[in-house]
Amino acid sequence: MAKILVTGGLGYIGSHTVVELQQNGYEVVIVDNLSNSEIKVLDGIEAITGIRPHFEQLDICDDKAFQVCLTKHNGIDAVIHFAASKAVGESVEKSLDYYRNNVYGLIQLLTLMRKNDIKHIIFSSSCTVYGQAEQLPIDETAPRQTATSPYGNTKQMCEDIIRDAIISYHDFNAILLRYFNPIGAHPSAMIGELPKGVPNNLVPYITQTAAGLRKELSVFGDDYNTPDGSAIRDYIYVVDLAKAHVKAMQRLLSGSNKSDCEIFNLGTGSGVSVLELVNTFMEATGVNLPYKIVGRRAGDIEQVWADSSYAEKELGWTAKTPLAEVLNSAWNWEKKVRNIQ
Ligand code: NAD
Ligand code: UFG
Repeated sequence: MAKILVTGGLGYIGSHTVVELQQNGYEVVIVDNLSNSEIKVLDGIEAITGIRPHFEQLDICDDKAFQVCLTKHNGIDAVIHFAASKAVGESVEKSLDYYRNNVYGLIQLLTLMRKNDIKHIIFSSSCTVYGQAEQLPIDETAPRQTATSPYGNTKQMCEDIIRDAIISYHDFNAILLRYFNPIGAHPSAMIGELPKGVPNNLVPYITQTAAGLRKELSVFGDDYNTPDGSAIRDYIYVVDLAKAHVKAMQRLLSGSNKSDCEIFNLGTGSGVSVLELVNTFMEATGVNLPYKIVGRRAGDIEQVWADSSYAEKELGWTAKTPLAEVLNSAWNWEKKVRNIQ
């Protein structure tokens, strides 16, 4: 079975994807510098799959260490590239760090892929590249819009770098996956999201509030042009998202891709407002969630959700897990992390 290099494989989406890859028979080599993850995630992956993936702690920007790793684990067939910095607000404060890690890191990776004759890459992109789209739902033909943060800009630049590398070096091919809003945790509660400090994202903030770590959730805005006034997103279960990577990998390795650089939107196809999500969390878990309405968060867009019919048609993939089940998985993970019965 094929050997897959997973950069950032101890992170949130990476760890769930490693589980699915292993459960589908792939051999996995993880590289991660632990800048936003913990080594014990390896134990969680092993507890679920019964297999401890190969792991090398290194920074992908360190080409010497990276080459040593590729020599040691020679015969890599393809890469899934998750390793990146991802906090939108922090990227405004530390833009050069973001360009170095996300853009330079990708350039190093592609350079080493060429040197080591690795031809296939799956890249973690984001619906952030669409900005506030004029038409909803958003399909892959929707135009990208000027990024509103250095983070968003790195995703656009990385997509372009991959596209250009394919033109320069004809034997490369890629699948760019544009994720909508990944949430939830593995049903085993052995792995999940581990935000450092105060969470920026909605679901970890909710579960930490429910666990008593935060006093109340602030709902950022109830004056949007949406049915209940709160902003709308397409929340996709991280396990469903992970499974899409396996489908994409099968497609690349079997050569059934239709072009050398394919793009897929990965979402559920449905938009959910912040207030709907809060209410679903309370109904699903039976936990009361204190919240207050505050002003809009700077830089937030009003509403986005995906048209994922292209992924359904081409990858044979859909995100079907009900939101209540997904929110329960997030809560079960939070309870496990906090030792709550
Ligand atoms: P994460 O921070 O949990 O995982 C990223 C992992 O990469 C971490 O384990 C981190 O330690 C590692 N890493 C970072 N820089 C590295 C480097 N230079 N060398 C080696 N390892 C490095 O993030 P995530 O939520 O799992 O996101 C994975 C990818 O998906 C990222 O590229 C992110 O931009 C993208 N994405 C995430 C979301 C989201 O909402 N979580 C949405 C769209 C796209
Ligand atoms: N929200 C709140 N209160 C909070 C946190 C969030 O009301 O405490 C609201 C936000 O205003 C937004 C919605 O919940 O309307 C979702 O916010 P998130 O921060 O969870 O997610 P975003 O849609 O802002 O962005 C996320 C990632 C980006 C990524 C994007 C698309 O943070 O990196 O999804 O994949 F680009």
